[in-house]
Order: sequence, then structure tokens, then C-alpha cells
Amino acid sequence: MKVYVTRRIPEVGMELLKEFDVRVWPGDEPPPREVLLEEVRDVDGLLCLLTDRIDGELFDRAERLRVVSNYAAGYDNVDVEEATRRGILVTNTPGVLTDSTADLTFALLLALARRIPEAEAFMRSGRWRTWSPDLLTGIEVTGSVLGIVGMGRIGEAVARRAAGFSMKILYTSRTRKPGAEQAFQMEFVSLTELLSASDFVTIHVPLTQETTRLIGKAELSLMKRDACIINTSRGAVLDQRALCEALIERRIRGAALDVFEEEPVPMDDPIFTTPGLIIVPHIGSATTKTRQRMAKMAALNLRNFLLGHPVPNPVNPVVLNA
Ligand code: NAP
Ligand code: GLV
Ligand code: GLV
Repeated sequence: MKVYVTRRIPEVGMELLKEFDVRVWPGDEPPPREVLLEEVRDVDGLLCLLTDRIDGELFDRAERLRVVSNYAAGYDNVDVEEATRRGILVTNTPGVLTDSTADLTFALLLALARRIPEAEAFMRSGRWRTWSPDLLTGIEVTGSVLGIVGMGRIGEAVARRAAGFSMKILYTSRTRKPGAEQAFQMEFVSLTELLSASDFVTIHVPLTQETTRLIGKAELSLMKRDACIINTSRGAVLDQRALCEALIERRIRGAALDVFEEEPVPMDDPIFTTPGLIIVPHIGSATTKTRQRMAKMAALNLRNFLLGHPVPNPVNPVVLNA
């Protein structure tokens, strides 16, 4: 059976694909669209990254394709409805990246609160004269209010960290989570309430039709003037232009982004010149250990399906039961 892998992934994953005829795109950037469409022509399985758009056009070319294994927890890059219609299984890699992504979220929260990038730049520029009572004073994290939008795996891992910092936690999600609520002393509120009461807002919903631009101009205008927002989910959940405007007009204090509407962000984007913004290049799951676990999980999902074994992380399990 033939398998195409759209980027080199950690060896622990590749080893699990040994029994297949595997081709790997050797580049450091995604395969060009034409190459991807050509390579999938005769494959049974595709192991892809969030940088690859997997849609009806691709499925039209890939006549033998039976499984798309996404090397990510999010799968908004894959047209799952179209895959399901054609009986193609889609899988993802949730869970193994929960802690690393929650850690990055908290690192960004702390960096915003304590003005770390600004303090670094200040010291390196030689402006430091003396210890002083008001030098680079920030927000006290202990006791401040954290609003978590989307109480899934990562949302809950962020709540666990916030509880350790004695933050007051509010959350909103599609469904109420009584267990987590009790464990972390959280309060379930509406999005409106969450936005108007939080000192820090953090987004952990997947990108879907309902969550596209979930946080736009109107929502940002509900936030407190001294509040900060963090996004490590998907760029399109937050209206980036509205965010930059809110920061420029000082209607909110700060923001930290790991994900963007367009990735990589074009160098002429206002993101690079807006004040109060901390930006990192989609590194939520970027620890060596997590990337190895993702490789193993993505390979296992693909391998198990092609060999007829139980699949750990199906996104559209209806295909398995058909
Ligand atoms: P998850 O366990 O599926 O959690 C997502 C949560 O969002 C679910 O609990 C779900 O609600 C909630 N939700 C979905 N639609 C909603 C809506 N319309 N309104 C309110 N809540 C909604 O996923 P996860 O593993 O935590 O990952 C979350 C997302 O993070 C992924 O989809 C991915 O896009 C992103 N991610 C980013 C990185 C990174 O590198 N920055 C790494 C990993 C993941 P209910 O449970 O209440 O139904
Ligand atoms: C990364 O963004 C993921 O969804 O795994
Ligand atoms: C600060 O360094 C202190 O000792 O309070």
C-alpha cells in the first residue's frame, strides 16, 4: 500500500510506516499544491500537516485514498464533510499536545502580565538606570480573573494551571463541565459576561463555521480597558484587524497570539507594528517530546486503519461503521 507524507516528521513516526511504500516530501516548506495533487493520485493513505489544504479537489485526484491522518489536533484544514461523503477516514492527534499548548498559553499570559518582551528590550537597549518602585510594573496574576473560551482538553489544562496561580476562573463552552468546574472552582458564564469580567481572556475552541470570528469588534469592546487576550487556537476565531484597532486605540491593554488568520503572516501586516502585542509563530505544541508523540500517533492512526486494526483518533468515526 502506498502512503504520502507531506513533510519529514520525527523518526518514531516514520518507523511505524515501514511496511508501506512511503514517499515523503523532502522540503522544509509545504509541498506546492501541484506536487501534492500529483503525489496523492495513487496513494491509499495521506499523512499531512495543518499547512496542507485537504479538500474536494484533492479527493477528486486521489482515487484510492482511504485515510487522511492530520499531524495536529485541529483539523480545520481538512474538509471533513467531503471526506465523510466519500468514505475517507480523517484522524488527528489530540491529547498528546494538551500540556505543551497549555504551557505556551500560560507563558504568554505571564509574559503579558509581567511585560517580559518589553523588559528585555528595555534592558538590552541600555536604558536601565536603577531599581525603581514603578519600573515596568505589570498585572498581579495571583487573584486576577481568567476567562476561558472553550472548555475542552486544552481549556481544562489551562484551568489547572490557573488554579495553581490562585486565579479566579470563568469559562464558557458549548456544554457545561460540572467535573472540571468543581475541580478548579470555575464559574460557567455567557461569553458576554466572561468578556466583561475577565482580566485575561484565552481562546481554546476549534475553528468551525460557528467559531469563525467568534471574537470580533463587538466582543472586544466588552473587554475591560486593562484586560488582555490570548489566542493559541486558530487565527480566524479572532478578528485580527479588530484586535489591532482595539490595541492601537488602547481599548484593551494587550494581546498575545500564537496563531494568525494567514500563516506565515505577511511582513506588511499591522500585526508587526501594533503596540501591546506579543507574537510567536504557531509553536503551541512545539516541544521535542510532544512532536514525537504526535508523529507516533499520526502514524499509528494511519497504519492501524490501513491494516484493519482499531484506530485511536478518528475524527469521522461514521466512516468506520459504514
Ligand atoms: P477539544 O478538546 O475538542 O476542545 C475544544 C472545546 O471547544 C470543546 O470542549 C468544545 O465544546 C468547545 N467548542 C466547540 N465549538 C464551540 C462553540 N461553538 N462555542 C463554544 N465552545 C465550543 O480540543 P483541544 O484539544 O482542546 O484543542 C482545541 C483547539 O486548539 C484545536 O481545535 C486546535 O485548533 C487548537 N490547537 C492549537 C495548537 C497550537 O499549536 N497553537 C495546538 C493544539 C491545538 P464542548 O466540549 O463544550 O462541546
Ligand atoms: C496545532 O495547531 C494543532 O492543532 O495541533
Ligand atoms: C526585590 O528584589 C525585593 O527583594 O523585594
